[in-house]
Amino acid sequence: MTCGAVIPAAGSGQRLGGRDKALLPLAGRPALAWVLGALARSAQIDEIVVVASEANAAAIESLCQVSELRIPVRVTLGGAERALSVRAGVECLSPSVQLVLIHDAARPLLTSELVRRAIAMAHRHGAVVAAVPVVDTIKQVSVDGRVVTTPDRSTLVAAQTPQVFRLDWLRETYRRVGASLATVTDEATLLERAGFPVYIFPGDPENIKLTTPLDVTIAEFLLARRRRE
Ligand code: C5P
Repeated sequence: MTCGAVIPAAGSGQRLGGRDKALLPLAGRPALAWVLGALARSAQIDEIVVVASEANAAAIESLCQVSELRIPVRVTLGGAERALSVRAGVECLSPSVQLVLIHDAARPLLTSELVRRAIAMAHRHGAVVAAVPVVDTIKQVSVDGRVVTTPDRSTLVAAQTPQVFRLDWLRETYRRVGASLATVTDEATLLERAGFPVYIFPGDPENIKLTTPLDVTIAEFLLARRRRE
C-alpha cells in the first residue's frame, strides 16, 4: 500500500516559551530534520507533507530543500489547532496514497524501526496508534482539585505518534466529525468517535514529545548518544 507521511509542525511552542519546536536545534540538527531523516530511511514511506505555520514556513521550506531526502517532500500551511493542521496536510497527499502516517515534528526521537512497526500494524488493523504503558497513577480531578476517580492503571496507556490510518477511513472520519475536529489532540480520537476500530501497538519510551525544557534536555542527550552510535 502506498504510504504518505504528514508531519504537523505548525505549533507555536507556547509551553516552551514560544520557541519553535520543529526548528529547535538538538544535537546539531533541528528536531524536524531528525524526523525527516527517520522517515527517509523507512522504505515504506513514499512521500512526506510537512505542515508549517506562517511564521516558520520559509525556514521549513529551506530545511526540506537542503535535506536531500530520497522521497518527495511538500510543505503546506496549517491551522490554529493541531487537528486542523493535520487535515490540511492530508489534503495535500497524492491521490495514490492509501495509508497515512501522522507524526509530530515535536517528537524527534522517531526511529525507522518504529515506522516499520506502525505500518505493519496498520496493514493488519487499518487504524493504529503507538502507545506506551502509563507509569504514574492517573487521577481524574474536578476544576477545584478534588479527585473524582482513579482509573485502574493496568487499563491505561499513553498515546504517542506515529499514528497510521487507512486514508479512506480518515477521509470518511473528517466527513462525519465535522466541526468538532478542532478540539481533539490526536487523530485516533476522531476515528474512535466515527466508530472505526483503533488498535494500539508498542511505542517507544524514548519517543518523547518536546513540551517542557526538561524534555529538550532529555531529547538532546538521547539524540547526541544516537549520533555517536
Ligand atoms: O501542541 P503539541 O505539542 O501537542 O503539538 C504537537 C505537534 O502538532 C507539534 O509538532 C506542533 O508543531 C503541531 N501543531 C500544528 N498546528 C497547530 C498546533 C500544533 O501543526 N496549530
